[in-house]
Amino acid sequence: MPSMIHVSAPGKLMLLGEHAVVHGRPCLVTAVDSRLHMTLTRSGDDRFTLDAPDVGAHGVTGRLADAFRDGRALTHGTRFIESALRVFAEQIGLEGGVAIATRSDFSSQLGLGSSSATVACALFGLARLQDVELAPQRLFDLGLETIRRVQGTASGFDLAAAIFGGTLVYENAASRRIEPLGAPGLPLIAAYSGIKADTATYVQRVNARLAAHPAAMEHIFEAMRALVIAGRDALIQCDWARLGELLDMGHGLVHALGVDIPQTAALVFAARAAGAFGAKLSGAGGGDCVIALAGEDRRAEVERALEAAGGTLLRVAPNAPGVRVETESTP
Ligand code: PMV
Repeated sequence: MPSMIHVSAPGKLMLLGEHAVVHGRPCLVTAVDSRLHMTLTRSGDDRFTLDAPDVGAHGVTGRLADAFRDGRALTHGTRFIESALRVFAEQIGLEGGVAIATRSDFSSQLGLGSSSATVACALFGLARLQDVELAPQRLFDLGLETIRRVQGTASGFDLAAAIFGGTLVYENAASRRIEPLGAPGLPLIAAYSGIKADTATYVQRVNARLAAHPAAMEHIFEAMRALVIAGRDALIQCDWARLGELLDMGHGLVHALGVDIPQTAALVFAARAAGAFGAKLSGAGGGDCVIALAGEDRRAEVERALEAAGGTLLRVAPNAPGVRVETESTP
């Protein structure tokens, strides 16, 4: 059994279907090559120690039995790792203490999915530290349980990207669907709007609009499903012009849900004016990131336009591999 293991998991960007996925429709998501890194070291006692400087947690320590006890974490920044420790202890069994340290290639402010990448790393790393084989589906189930204990509703699309990697159709309906799609060469550009969005707030806003206008909102969700189905085909055929048009339509629908803001709209229109195949907000809305697709001949221009409109470019590539071991050492 290893005494120390270094694992990593990718961040993600939603391509199509945000919010609708919370309401049982499919979405398209791609894992990006900015990764969350985690080192797990056995400690041989009954304690955990957590260092997660990106979320302001330094040397947080406690007894394993106290991790996320009664649904409460020792610190806000460590709540996802503590929840993972509790779920793992309950459902797999923890063999002794552990020190966990995280380091991220990307800021947790960007909305790239640092929480789900953290959860994927923690559960995967704990299993590997104890030589337990966890099938990806089982890892996913434990991860979703971990996340839901912390934040209630979550579709799990970001966890699927962190575990499986690549580009996926994800649907959390009666039967869960995680379908990997080859999307080589997806010409993705991403820019941060400068505004940190709170996903839960925007999920609630969409729920409120759904309660007020159920028939219209269900039609929007169904239209989003149609875009995801068409987007899946465009991805398989590497038809970026077609996928771009679908992104444009997707942005219109996200706007109709009420989660677009002037800053994200400005980035989307700037990318289109500079010759992108298409552009849209990505994720819950209220800020965070915008994505665009552009051919090689337009890429530099689209990037310049996004920056001129107030965006910060994210140098990320799509289709990154899922959670994996980087290194491990045995005593
Ligand atoms: O804001 P993000 O990137 O975490 O995306 C949220 C996507 C939602 O569909 C709004 C929520 C969810 O859990 O799927």
